[in-house]
Amino acid sequence: MFGTESLAVNAQGHLTLGGMDVPALAQKYGTPLMLMDEGWIRKTASAYHDAIRKHYGENADVSYASKAFSTGYMYKIMAETGLCADVVSGGELYTARAAGFPMNRVFLHGNNKTPDEIILALESGIGHFVSDNLTELALINALAAERGLTADIMLRVKPGVEAHTHDFVKTGQIDSKFGVAIETGEALDAIGEILKLSNLRYVGIHCHIGSQIFETAPFGEAARVMINFMAAIRDRYGVDTAELNLGGGFGVRYTEEDAPRTVEENVAMLCAAVKAELAARNLPAPRLLIEPGRSMVAPAGITVYTVGSVKTIPGIRTYVSIDGGMTDNPRYILYGSKYEFLLPEYAAEPRTQVVTIAGRNCESGDLLGEHVEIQPVKAGDLLCTLTTGAYNYSMASNYNRVPRPAVVMVRDGEDKVVVRRETYEDLIRNDIF
Ligand code: LLP
Repeated sequence: MFGTESLAVNAQGHLTLGGMDVPALAQKYGTPLMLMDEGWIRKTASAYHDAIRKHYGENADVSYASKAFSTGYMYKIMAETGLCADVVSGGELYTARAAGFPMNRVFLHGNNKTPDEIILALESGIGHFVSDNLTELALINALAAERGLTADIMLRVKPGVEAHTHDFVKTGQIDSKFGVAIETGEALDAIGEILKLSNLRYVGIHCHIGSQIFETAPFGEAARVMINFMAAIRDRYGVDTAELNLGGGFGVRYTEEDAPRTVEENVAMLCAAVKAELAARNLPAPRLLIEPGRSMVAPAGITVYTVGSVKTIPGIRTYVSIDGGMTDNPRYILYGSKYEFLLPEYAAEPRTQVVTIAGRNCESGDLLGEHVEIQPVKAGDLLCTLTTGAYNYSMASNYNRVPRPAVVMVRDGEDKVVVRRETYEDLIRNDIF
């Protein structure tokens, strides 16, 4: 009914998430509130893990791109389900470490890692650095040498593949700030640098072509280009590439316009492409990694708000103001992202009213959706945005000194707070008066 099996409607006509009554949870914890179906996240993580091992073999892993939703409890779930984690900052690394996530399963990304982040990663004993450029390779080498360590390096390359998605989340093309390009010869030279620097160990190559991608062709093309590049590395330097990481990017359903494939279909497609390309070039099979973020968490989450005013401008539109907005979900103001909305107390009713959902912040563009359909709405109703599990909480801000919402996970009939609601004291914690 809602495009995800996490959501249903109970006998009272209320929306349920993971079998739990959403209005009851809103009553218990207050709004705005992020709710996530932990059972769905665990099932999806296991589905990814099982699918890659089934279609590629044991030498394959799934690394959760934790920028999608990075909290201590999430790293615990990922550790328990046997996944690796992609972290992109000292803060994500620190959170994973604090959660007890095994550091040898961590990949540190970033196009401009600071010396402090590199030192934290070296001293934490992370698995791999995914290095972005020559300046950074020299820096990692120097910092590793000072500590008598050797860092395992994957090189982030731009495969030159165009994916049809929003310009802001495209990353595989030559004009991107991430990584070094294959087509200019820069990437092959960078591999030579890794091999030369004595405190670096060459482990493999990495690419990520973009996010919210539905087509299969760009993934197959990325696999082809990357495996060609592995052959070029062998030809030039006589070394094999032990690991190939093809990044994330699988699309999810936000609205009826989106038709994602299943985890099984996506992973099977990618593994088939990789195996065919390896066979064609007679290369030994590397460890294969993928890095899903959005598709691991987006469909598991909803955000629940309380409606304040409903303001109709005759002949123009109706603004429905809620007690959150761009501060907990900046994706509409940033990308014009589309969402579905509904009133969780009347979830079984048809969505017959067309409204604009307005956030509470001092910014005209602070909207969550325009001309969207919901059930007839009045002040005091609860209102939900669906599919908010990815890139909402992790991109939230305190603009207007609005505290971030609480995050509650539900599983097997139980609910638990995994991030407490921010307080006003939290907001002034670092202020010096
Ligand atoms: N690996 C790398 C190196 C990445 O940069 C990303 C996402 C992923 C994996 C995970 O991609 P996913 O499976 O989530 O598509 N804030 C934007 C999305 C930015 C994605 C950044 N990189 C949004 O809200 O749509």
